[in-house]
Amino acid sequence: MRVLITGGAGFIGANFVHHTLTHRPDAEVTVLDALTYAGNKASLASVADRITFVHGDITDRDLVDSLVASTDLVVHFAAESHNDNSLANPEPFVLTNLFGTFTLLEAVRKYGVRYHHISTDEVYGDLELDDPAKFTETTRYNPSSPYSSTKAGSDLLVRAWVRSFGIHATISNCSNNYGPYQHVEKFIPRQITNIIDGVRPKLYGDGKNVRDWIHVDDHNAAVWTIIDKGVSGETYLIGANGEQDNKTVIELILELLGKDAGDYDHVTDRPGHDLRYAIDSTRLRTELGWQPRYTSFRDGLADTIAWYQQNEAWWRPQKAETEQKYAVSGGTQ
Ligand code: NAD
Ligand code: TYD
Repeated sequence: MRVLITGGAGFIGANFVHHTLTHRPDAEVTVLDALTYAGNKASLASVADRITFVHGDITDRDLVDSLVASTDLVVHFAAESHNDNSLANPEPFVLTNLFGTFTLLEAVRKYGVRYHHISTDEVYGDLELDDPAKFTETTRYNPSSPYSSTKAGSDLLVRAWVRSFGIHATISNCSNNYGPYQHVEKFIPRQITNIIDGVRPKLYGDGKNVRDWIHVDDHNAAVWTIIDKGVSGETYLIGANGEQDNKTVIELILELLGKDAGDYDHVTDRPGHDLRYAIDSTRLRTELGWQPRYTSFRDGLADTIAWYQQNEAWWRPQKAETEQKYAVSGGTQ
């Protein structure tokens, strides 16, 4: 099978490339990635001779057209993915997440190619901290940020292309991922690398906000399950019952790195900060038979910390620039 993976030099996409080459050795993998600040070819260095890497933009119609014409499957990860950046400058989010998805949809429509759309639980907005409810496939869309609203819009484009033009597509909405190759702008790697650098971790607000953590390998295994067994036109939520508040996560990272659990700073809260995300993945588990392999967040986090300790050469070039960006955007120092 020929597989076109957009955003394959990013965090989840690169892990998906590795997962695919390990579990589907016959797959012919092409990566299309614009190598924005978030893309890193080093994440694919160990498999460079087993893939075709195309440096290009998903909004480039001619390029997308030619790549989609010669593939059997598109798995679309490419996006602007960080909420804080979307508050500082929403424009690339609109271009990549909306126009980029549109460009891919027009090409898969033209060539009748199977398409899987990677999305986020943030399209549903947030839940109250004391609410027992979780997001399901029928929860109303209610995104809060430029990031989540452009992802929501991209999901709706996919649904419309299925209904209006009959394209063969599935959508997955996953909760917060952690694992190797995640950019140091994101919560968990930012704190791990701060501590390694002797800098106190930064907790937004009171740290009561809850995220539903899933290991990136579990996400990617679920994506393949949906590609193999999912029903065209349907949406599947991916989550591993990993709810943790941010304060607990920071304290756990400090403890696993042998530091005092109170050794962090409270900083100004993110504007519009979503309170809580929680996924009900019953549909994926009962209809398609998927289950997470990483059942202990503590163990998965310990593995992730070890990866960042052993791969400083991978993250070091991003670190100073990322912290400089946070310093300029303010509010989070
Ligand atoms: P990331 O920011 O680490 O990687 C994004 C990749 O897309 C980068 O390699 C970047 O170079 C590439 N890219 C950006 N704009 C592009 C363009 N115009 N053309 C081609 N390539 C472009 O993101 P991630 O965390 O790996 O997220 C991947 C996908 O998963 C996104 O669609 C995101 O919305 C979704 N998602 C992420 C999470 C999470 O916790 N990170 C959770 C659920 C869903
Ligand atoms: P993040 O990794 O940006 O993911 P998302 O916004 O998509 O959930 O942030 C995860 C949580 O951590 C979120 O509640 C914001 C918080 N956070 C901090 O407390 N400190 C930080 O330095 C960062 C980057 C995030």
